[in-house]
Amino acid sequence: MLNTVHIIRDFSLKEYNTFGIEQTAEAFVSIEDESTLRAVLLDKTYPKKFILGGGSNLLLTQPLKGLCIHMNTKGIRIVEENIDEVIVEAMAGENWHDLVMWSLDQGYGGLENLALIPGNTGTASIQNIGAYGVELKDVFHQCTALDITHSKEIHFNRREVDFGYRTSLFKTSAKGKYVITKLQVRLTKRKHILKTAYGAIQTALKDEVPSPKSIAKAVISIRKEKLPDPAQLGNSGSFFKNPIVSYPHYEKIKTQFPNVPAYIIDKEQVKIPAGWLIETIGFKGYRQGDAGVHKKQALVLVNYGMASGKDILALSKIIQAKVAETFSIALEAEVNII
Ligand code: EPU
Repeated sequence: MLNTVHIIRDFSLKEYNTFGIEQTAEAFVSIEDESTLRAVLLDKTYPKKFILGGGSNLLLTQPLKGLCIHMNTKGIRIVEENIDEVIVEAMAGENWHDLVMWSLDQGYGGLENLALIPGNTGTASIQNIGAYGVELKDVFHQCTALDITHSKEIHFNRREVDFGYRTSLFKTSAKGKYVITKLQVRLTKRKHILKTAYGAIQTALKDEVPSPKSIAKAVISIRKEKLPDPAQLGNSGSFFKNPIVSYPHYEKIKTQFPNVPAYIIDKEQVKIPAGWLIETIGFKGYRQGDAGVHKKQALVLVNYGMASGKDILALSKIIQAKVAETFSIALEAEVNII
């Protein structure tokens, strides 16, 4: 069967990771239909398999061994609807932002705060993408996946995916076990639940009446202003997660840094923006060869052109060490480091 599948050896992944890092895959296949995916999964020529979506949350520090399976299946359809709501299904290879724009064009609400997030719909669930007060879990209905070893189809509902802050079952206990083939989201057709509490959204909306479309427009302008476009400057969005510290730990930081921003989670826990920690240690705009910290958002590491994955990783380690030394906080990478 694999004779009819187009497998390329020593394939450059430079165009397939938003950091724009030059790295190769031992073998590469682009998947446009599910039957090919099933055949590829069952074939034993390359026992090691790596699933690649939009490559927007990935730092490649070494060549990929085995077969890199690039999910490129397309299609968006309505599965079910009533007067208030609609369930929309997207194939895994659909670009996330295209799904957002498609849903807005239909007049649906729910995805507007998540506009312009790089990546594909299939991988969106893995790290529970989120921005401006909304996470994928808020609209997630279910996803379909194939078991990588047996190619068996399985459905996951929201509870089963076990979403957390930038994490899910697919990043923890089921890491590397499934390839997500379809995502279903539950959207509103009327009585939209608009989330405009985020300060920057309110400012960007100005006098415009909040609606799914105007919020998306605001989010797009905020993101364009703060976050580098991977097509122009290689990056993977936030490189680290925002750390969660204990209340006493936060109080201690506050005595030394009275302006420390914080989101109170509960009586015991506080989330501190990693961007602020990195800016405070003086690394905003820092550059070491072609690896750097973005000038406008210190949480984003960038590739000025020729940085290797190891260069970016080395910079991230320096940042982690300095943040640990200054604040006794262990910054955890948000991107998938290979
Ligand atoms: N800040 C600084 N300096 C900086 C950057 C941020 O002081 O250089 C402080 C400011 O106080 C600012 C606060 O950090 O008010 C929060 O910054 P921002 O609103 O830019 O958001 P973030 O916490 O840095 C998170 C997500 C982003 C998401 C935004 C907006 C994570 C790891 N990141 O960033 O998600 O777009 O909120 O909701 O949770 C991504 O995951 O790749 C991503 C871009």
